[in-house]
Amino acid sequence: MQKPIDLQFLRDAQDLFSGRREGHMGAYLYKDPRLWSALAENDRDYYISRHDNRLLNRSLKGLARAIPAHLGFRDNGPGAGKSVEEKTVRLLKALQSNEYIAVDVSEAFATAACEAVNRYLPDIKTTAEVLDFFRKAKAERSPAVVYFGGSTIGNITHPLDEEFPTIKLATALDGLASQAGDYLIVSFDSNRDESSLMKAYTTEKNSVFVTGLVRRIAVELPNQGFNPAVFSHDPTWNAPGRQMAHFLGVEKDCEFQLGKENFSVKAGERFLGLNSYKPAEDNLIDASDIIGLQPVEFFQDDSTLRIAVLQRPQNANYQMTSSRVNERLAHAAIGAR
Ligand SMILES: C[S@@+](CC[C@H](N)C(=O)[O-])C[C@H]1O[C@@H](n2cnc3c(N)ncnc32)[C@H](O)[C@@H]1O
Repeated sequence: MQKPIDLQFLRDAQDLFSGRREGHMGAYLYKDPRLWSALAENDRDYYISRHDNRLLNRSLKGLARAIPAHLGFRDNGPGAGKSVEEKTVRLLKALQSNEYIAVDVSEAFATAACEAVNRYLPDIKTTAEVLDFFRKAKAERSPAVVYFGGSTIGNITHPLDEEFPTIKLATALDGLASQAGDYLIVSFDSNRDESSLMKAYTTEKNSVFVTGLVRRIAVELPNQGFNPAVFSHDPTWNAPGRQMAHFLGVEKDCEFQLGKENFSVKAGERFLGLNSYKPAEDNLIDASDIIGLQPVEFFQDDSTLRIAVLQRPQNANYQMTSSRVNERLAHAAIGAR
């Protein structure tokens, strides 16, 4: 039997190569979990996962002081085994949670995370939810901690820009808080040093990870003439936007059809597939302020990684759809123009 076509994936890929949208393809990179695991666990130059792990472990006691015990725990994008064993499980123990929900676009990551948690903490109730967390989720309202580790908040969808997209970050945080989150634990990388960033992102494993997107398009989407080999990973640091922009560069002219749409790409052209943003603490504070989240505490060590604990004010009717939040976003958008 033929596999159904993921129409959203088709539309998103068509939008990318037509230039209608940019920086929106991040969620499609994780279908083959081995590519991310190879980068996160075995790439010496890609420091983010390693430093995030170290900071989290150094911050466990402080996190347990800042966040009430026994809350349910939503893990957004748990990722590979090592990160679950060395971060998630330790956080669950520190916060004495008795419920664990793994939310991931990759079914393999979500179910493996639940299995790993149950291996170490057999009494915890676990659930795997396969969904895109940047699309708004309808979660049951119950007090919970939402964990967003591995600097994944940096992958917000946005085109190349002259300034940090605070409103986009606010919307992403709002989406997370709407997942029944009373407390958000958000890790992020604040590095702005171009040479160390380029060293981290121009590795072979990073290139294999990012170009996994075009290989996936070739295999899963109806196409004629789409040749993934003409694209290469071309990461570019955009300092004003604090944005590592992951372009797919065209090495050779290529004409192809995706679905029913025709494309002609030329050598030297570049398409912005996704981003790795590097916010400062102030960017987190500004974004939180827009949507009424309160920063409780920031954790840092000698690395460029940071962990923020944000809290949804008690008794607030916290709904993105509420006119109050929309008003604030509109107001901020006017201020940002
Ligand atoms: C950068 S990794 C971080 C993994 C882990 N939390 C860590 O700390 O190393 C991103 C994780 O989020 C998942 N992911 C990425 N984008 C997603 C999206 N839009 N919706 C749901 N899951 C997503 C990936 O499959 C992966 O597990």
